[in-house]
Amino acid sequence: MKNILAAALLAGSAIGASAQGQVNVICSVQADWCNNIATIYSRTTGTKINVALKGSGEALAQLIAEKDNPKTDVWFGGTGDPHLQAAEQGLTLEYKSPTLSQLHPWAQQQAQQSKYRTVGIYSGPLGFGYNPELLAKKKLPVPRTWADLTKPIYKGEVQVANPASSGTAYTMIATLVQLMGEEKAFDYLKALHKNVSQYTRSGTAPIKAVARGETAVSISFVHDGPGEKMQGFPVETITPADGTGAEIGSMSIVKGARNLEAAKKFYEWALTPSAQEIAFAAKSFQVPSNKATRIDPNVPDFRKIKFINYDYAKYGSSSERRRLIARWEKEVNSLPR
Ligand code: F6P
Repeated sequence: MKNILAAALLAGSAIGASAQGQVNVICSVQADWCNNIATIYSRTTGTKINVALKGSGEALAQLIAEKDNPKTDVWFGGTGDPHLQAAEQGLTLEYKSPTLSQLHPWAQQQAQQSKYRTVGIYSGPLGFGYNPELLAKKKLPVPRTWADLTKPIYKGEVQVANPASSGTAYTMIATLVQLMGEEKAFDYLKALHKNVSQYTRSGTAPIKAVARGETAVSISFVHDGPGEKMQGFPVETITPADGTGAEIGSMSIVKGARNLEAAKKFYEWALTPSAQEIAFAAKSFQVPSNKATRIDPNVPDFRKIKFINYDYAKYGSSSERRRLIARWEKEVNSLPR
């Protein structure tokens, strides 16, 4: 893994000195990945890169707040739904990358649906994280379906993020609504609420809590499991047998970006196989969007997962996302536990 970083740094060291400029990036993937991108990109291009880490919902909120005076040039990563919402609200720039044809159809579809105001950079399935040691200690079975998570035996044992700040949690709500129908999905979320110990700000916090034995189960993207395990923590992942959704992690250029040329350069670089492989070196195991990017063996095998036919256009629309989150706040989060 370290070789990827070393090779990337070496390959770019020759051009590093001559280039200049800067690019301001909001980064909505795991911190190690964001940090590796910043190091490699600045060392190989000579461009100064300022990276701010934000969850998908928080990133969107920042772009809305900065609308009249954008300080961000590129929004890298995070679930696709809020990127589509940003596109619809005119916060991001139409840009048709010459690299589009090299990307998987789902990544191209994300671009088409946004009228080329965003693009897919990775994909990953939603599922559960669990701590096998903690489950055994508490004599609890591994949850296998969505319904399992609402059983009273898991009271206080489940962590999931807050959908207002986290794209992971919004993906969960949208998945459940598509799987069960909206009324049943909200009944489900109310039942789940009784078992949730904490709604975290970040979507990756719950699986980290599982890994560290602070909670037995999380609702998480399953590609976030192997990285924790590689650090020696007891954590496994599973996707619900009754079906699940997947994110199309996305990237957008901000409309009115002050460093537009630098933003486009970064965007093109981020779509290359060598840039996408940086994820694996940082122990992030989503499916990369460039068809030529090497697939790490830790990347979840999509063929073994039962997926719903996630309607990205509908659940990425401003009105739907706002409405579902507001309904969750009002009808679920306000309930006592
Ligand atoms: O980087 C890990 C990850 O799970 C991404 O795959 C995803 O896009 C992002 O986190 C979502 O984070 P959040 O739920 O905090 O918006």
